Parts: sequence; C-alpha cells; structure tokens
Amino acid sequence: MFVDSIVLKKFRNYDALDIGFSNGINFIVGPNGSGKTNILEAVSVAANIRSFRGAADTDMVKWGEESYFCRLRSTGSRFREFEIGYSSMPGAPRKKARVDGCEIHRASDYFGRLLTVIYSPGDILIVSGSPEVRRRFFDAIIARVDREYLSLMGEFKKILASRNRLLKGLLERKAGVNELDVWDEMLASSSFGIIKKRMDFLESFTPSFRGAYQRIARQDSVPGLVYSCGFGEASLHEIREKLSGARRRDMAAGMTTAGPHRDDYVLYHENGRPFSNCSSQGQKRTASIALKNAERLFIEEATGERVVLMVDDVFSELDPERRESLVDSLQGENQVIFTMVGTGSIDPASFSGARIFNVGPGGMVSVE
Ligand SMILES: Nc1ncnc2c1ncn2[C@@H]1O[C@H](COP(=O)(O)OP(=O)(O)OP(=O)(O)O)[C@@H](O)[C@H]1O
Ligand SMILES: [Mg+2]
Repeated sequence: MFVDSIVLKKFRNYDALDIGFSNGINFIVGPNGSGKTNILEAVSVAANIRSFRGAADTDMVKWGEESYFCRLRSTGSRFREFEIGYSSMPGAPRKKARVDGCEIHRASDYFGRLLTVIYSPGDILIVSGSPEVRRRFFDAIIARVDREYLSLMGEFKKILASRNRLLKGLLERKAGVNELDVWDEMLASSSFGIIKKRMDFLESFTPSFRGAYQRIARQDSVPGLVYSCGFGEASLHEIREKLSGARRRDMAAGMTTAGPHRDDYVLYHENGRPFSNCSSQGQKRTASIALKNAERLFIEEATGERVVLMVDDVFSELDPERRESLVDSLQGENQVIFTMVGTGSIDPASFSGARIFNVGPGGMVSVE
C-alpha cells in the first residue's frame, strides 16, 4: 500500500499543507526544527489514530488554534481515505476518525487498515535500553503475527498479579504458604506457553534480523540474538523446579522475581560479548534498524501487504557506506519516506522516481 497524499490543517507548525508522495522513494529535507518529523507524525496519526511520538492531541494542534485536521489518501489497499479531526474546544474536546467517509468508533476497527512502520531515533533504545523496552518490542510483533499470544499474555498477567498479591499477604502474614502451590502451578504452565512462543518466534526472527544487519553493514560481523530466560531451558519441569527454588526469595521480596515478565532478548557479538555494552553508536543504530526491518518483514508476511516505511533521520550516525546500503536495502517494492537534515553523500536524483521535499523555515514545503 502507498500514501498518495496528505492534507494537514493547523497541525503542529503547518497552517495548511497539501502534498503528494511518490510511490517509490521520498526525501523530506530541511534544517532542524523545520517540521520534517511533523509530517511523518501526521502520517502516523492518520494511519494509527495516535502519534508515533506518543504526543497528546492538544500538543499537535497548531499553537494558538483549537483544532487540527489530517486527511490521508492511499492506494494499493481496500481503503482509500483516512481522516482524523481533533478539536480542543474547552469543555468538549473531541476526536473523530473516518475511513472512506464512515466514522469509526472503536480504535481496534481502525488499526491494520493502513500499515506503516517507522524507524525513528528512539529505536536505539531497543538495543541499549532496559529489557522492558525489548519485551515490549517483541511482544507487539508476536501479538501481531500470533493471535493466541495476546490472550496468553493477558492470562499470565492476571496470574502473576494474584501470585504477587499472595506473596505480599504472606509478608504481612495474612495468607498461608500452602496457597502458593496453586498459583505456582498456574504460573508455571502459563509461563511455559509464553516462553515457548517467544523462543519459537525468535528462531524465525533471528535469521531475518541477521540478514537485515548484514545488508546494511556489509563488512561488519553480524550480532546474534537469543532469549535469556530466568527459568533456564524452559521445560515445564524445569520451570516448576526454578519456581519452587525461588520461593524463599520471592517470599522475602513479596513478589515474583523470575519469569517471562523479567526475561530479556539479548544481542551479542560474535565473540560472545554483550552487544549493548561493547558496540559503537553506529553499530547499535544498525542493529536497531535491522530489528525494525525484520519486524516489517514479519508484518508483511502475516498480512500479505506491503507496508509504508518512514525513516526519521537515522542517518547521522551511519558512515556513508551504511547510509547507501540502508537506502538500497529499503527501496524495492515499498514506498519509503525519509527525513534528513541534508542528503549528504546520498544523491536523491540517482533513485528513479524519487521525490524530494524541501522544508523551509515556517513549514514552507517545495517539491523538486
Ligand atoms: N503545536 C505546535 N504548533 C506550532 N509549532 C509546533 C507545534 N509543535 C511543534 N512545533 C514546532 O515544530 C518544530 C519541530 O518540528 P519537527 O520535529 O518536525 O522538526 P524536524 O524538522 O524534524 O527537526 P529535526 O531535524 O531537529 O528533527 C519546532 O520548530 C516546533 O517549534
Ligand atoms: Mg525530526
């Protein structure tokens, strides 16, 4: 699918903007603070109702105004027109979403109709941030490709909360230890289901990630990726043993100290050293892009659709060779929208059908 055009009214620094994209490569170029990312944000709002930056609607309304409007037209899928309007009128803030003229009342009915993946500077945290960031990243992909996963996670969270409540109760001597047996058994079997799905997923995800890394960093050794499981080899038998072995520790802590809620996905160098501590900024950036690239391949395989790729200014940390490989590896049948401060060593004219948008001060956009 492709984004053909986007119309913005009173959105961020744009009073009125109406631009048409190429179905191939698009470069949005301009100085810092000119409004490049704002355009990608608007596409993300039209595609997913909310901003990929996590911004509140009131922050996206142009300063001094009361409402914003965003309309995106697309081709290559069943749906043609996506409209989001938001009004911050005091006392009655309202947001409306329409697809092909029909108002959509539930966000879940809106998602999945326009598929986009955004590569943004913050993605580096998937590599160098806390395990929670990686769990969130992988949970979201697994949930997209495996319908059962979300309900398994929901069930696990409930069991975990009950076991933690009981452990707290034990600390305060409000509950008996033998009650733990029931929750341990439930937690063990729920954990087993989740861990198995995560490990199975990683088995097919890892080659995809490594392939993506190799395509961008041709000379570099490629990092590995494994699931680090607090319950060891993760057979049901071992999970039960680990859980009962941790009981004393869990009781002292008043919470469950190991399990899928604490596990991690670990990137490592060829020599076995942890990637997050022993790699350069450019290598981390490359790995984060490769993770997102593998994510999009999974979404495409699961949906049979081509996603729209948005690449927000992730070039600055890459050497010229990696920059070129990145552009090469992304272009193909997908539409790609890049933002960058300057094209640098990349020659947009060398990409057939590429469109270049120059964003000037005050959000003036001209097309080359
Ligand atoms: N609600 C708003 N109303 C008007 N202007 C806004 C609003 N929110 C942000 N801005 C302006 O938008 C600009 C930021 O836009 P954006 O993040 O798209 O910049 P950018 O071109 O991506 O810059 P960089 O190269 O630094 O990433 C800032 O100048 C900011 O003042
Ligand atoms: Mg930006």
